[in-house]
Amino acid sequence: MADPFYALVTGASSGIGAALARALARRGRRLVVTGRNLERLEKLAAETRPAAGDVRIVLADLRAETGPDQIEEYLAREGLQVDLLVNNAGFGAGGDFAALPIARQLEMLDVNMRSLAELTHRHLVRMRKRGAGAILNVASTAAFQAVPYMAAYAASKAFVLHLSLGLWEENRHTGVHVMALCPGTTRTGFFAVSGIAMDGPYIETPEQVAEAALRALARRRPILVCGWPNRAMVALERLLPRRWVVMAAARYMRKRTTAALG
Ligand SMILES: NC(=O)c1ccc[n+]([C@@H]2O[C@H](COP(=O)([O-])OP(=O)(O)OC[C@H]3O[C@@H](n4cnc5c(N)ncnc54)[C@H](OP(=O)(O)O)[C@@H]3O)[C@@H](O)[C@H]2O)c1
Repeated sequence: MADPFYALVTGASSGIGAALARALARRGRRLVVTGRNLERLEKLAAETRPAAGDVRIVLADLRAETGPDQIEEYLAREGLQVDLLVNNAGFGAGGDFAALPIARQLEMLDVNMRSLAELTHRHLVRMRKRGAGAILNVASTAAFQAVPYMAAYAASKAFVLHLSLGLWEENRHTGVHVMALCPGTTRTGFFAVSGIAMDGPYIETPEQVAEAALRALARRRPILVCGWPNRAMVALERLLPRRWVVMAAARYMRKRTTAALG
């Protein structure tokens, strides 16, 4: 009998989410891909369908409280079961917290945290009943420290990291695996959306991130920081006084923030 389960990928219309969807399709996984950009999702579905077998599209705006409901209603209507949830949708807002519109920042927190928590809860309950499943939450290397001029974004990713690690331990003996993925700078549309220049000494491609993520997931790792330079940076940051790290991050961000600096 064919595998009745699907991998659900949020934010699959571009960047890391699209690369994850392609990497899952190459492994023969059926997909439910979500986002707001129908044209890009249709292109992705046409490209991945031969390998995946079945690729479904759900349009949902995860800024809205009804976003997760739209995804859930589709799954229920179609009778689809999800055994891998990839919470990847997210965006940043670069600039001085006080100078940036609060409405935009609250929308970001709704996508990065509220919708992620809601989808995680809904699927975790069902996966626990079945005693199997996996949830891959996309955090960031920004989750390990405060990042001035991207303060609310970094805080939202700290939430994702800590929620995921807490749930990894809570579910370790239930058959459900939860993993936090922490990419560093990755060549995607993220920077244009966030108002930050994309540069740095080490930049990965979304394909590198996706392949490494799926390898780590297969090994049931609780966390993956992508790329050894990023792992070294995270390790070093933990040894230094927090204020030094934050002051260095401020210098770095001031040069790269193209939006309001206050
Ligand atoms: N690029 C990096 O350097 C980097 C580093 C660390 C972590 N990350 C994280 O990686 C994840 C993917 O980002 P990316 O780098 O691949 O950027 P991206 O290319 O801009 O992709 C972001 C994805 O999120 C979706 N999204 C944004 N707002 C949404 C909304 N309101 N409702 C539903 N979906 C929404 C977008 O889909 P639609 O536009 O179709 O809605 C898009 O598919 C994010 O969580 C980001 O924080 C990125």
